[in-house]
Amino acid sequence: MIDLFIKNIRNDYSLRRHLFKSLTWRIVGSLDTTLLGWLVTGKINTGLKIGGLELFTKFLFYFLHERVWHKVKLKGESKEKVAERNKKKIEPQLFKQTTKVNRQQREDRNGHKSVTLWLTGLSASGKSSIATELDAWLHEHGYSCYVLDGDNTRLGINTDLSFSKEDRKENIRRVAEICKLFNDAGTIVIAAFISPFAEDRQNARSIIGDDSFMEIFVDATIDTCKMRDKKGLYALAEQGKIKDFTGINSPYERPIKPGIHIDANNSTIKESVATIIAELEKSGLIKSREAAVVL
Ligand code: ADX
Repeated sequence: MIDLFIKNIRNDYSLRRHLFKSLTWRIVGSLDTTLLGWLVTGKINTGLKIGGLELFTKFLFYFLHERVWHKVKLKGESKEKVAERNKKKIEPQLFKQTTKVNRQQREDRNGHKSVTLWLTGLSASGKSSIATELDAWLHEHGYSCYVLDGDNTRLGINTDLSFSKEDRKENIRRVAEICKLFNDAGTIVIAAFISPFAEDRQNARSIIGDDSFMEIFVDATIDTCKMRDKKGLYALAEQGKIKDFTGINSPYERPIKPGIHIDANNSTIKESVATIIAELEKSGLIKSREAAVVL
C-alpha cells in the first residue's frame, strides 16, 4: 500500500503537487496557530501542542480535500465549453479576411487538387512510415505535399495536450484546422494521427470539408503493433506506466467505411503506399499517367 503510494508520487505530477502544496500551506497555517496559542494562553508549550496537532490533522484533510476536488468536474467548466464561450464573445469583433489569390488558383498552378489524406490507426500500425513514403513519392512526382504527424505536432503546437478523451478531441480539432489551411494553400496534407474516436474524425472531416477529406484506415491488430513497437510504449502501458494508452487502457473505434482500407498486418510499407496511390488515381485525385510507375 505504502509502496504503491510512493510509486504513484513518483509518476503522478498532480499527486506530488497536492502533497507538497498541502504540506507548505499547513506549515504556514500551523505556525500562525502556534503563535496565536502562545499569545492567548501566554504559554509557548500550549501553542506548540495545538500547532503541532493541527499541522498533522489539517495537512491530512487539506490533501484529501484537494484530491477529491481534482476528480470533480464542474458542469460547464470543460475546455470545450470555455472555448465556445470565448468564441461567442469574440466572434462579433472578428471579420474574415479574403485574399486576391484563391485556393482554386493555387491548385491550378500546382496542377492538382489539394486534399487531406487522413491516416488513422493504432500506434505502431505503420501510419508514419506510410506517410513518409507516400510524401516522398508524391514529392518526386511533382505534387506539393506535407506530412503532419501526431508525435511531431504534440512536440510543438500541441505540447499542452494529454491523451485524455477531451485533449485528443482538441488535438484532432487543431490539426484539422491546420490541414484546412494547408489545403487552402494548395498543398496535399498527409495527416498521421491515431485519432481513435469516430466523433473526432467526423469533426475533422467537417472542418476540412467532405470533398477534401480522404480517410485511410491503417488496419493492424494489437499483436502486430506490439511486435512492431520500436518505441516500447505498449510494454510500458501494460506495466501501468502510461495511462490512457490506445488499445491497452483507452479505446480505438475502427472506421466503419474508410475511403481506403489498408491491411497493415499483411502488407509491407511499399505495398500499402502502392495501394493508396492506385486508389488516389482511381478517384482522380492524382493523375493516372503515373499509374505505371508506382514505386
Ligand atoms: S491521438 O490519439 O490524439 O490522435 P496522436 O496521433 O496525436 O494521438 O499521438 C500518438 C503518438 O503519441 C503515438 O505515436 C505515441 O508515440 C505517442 N503516445 C504517447 N502516449 C500515448 C498514449 N497514451 N496513447 C497513444 N499514443 C501515445
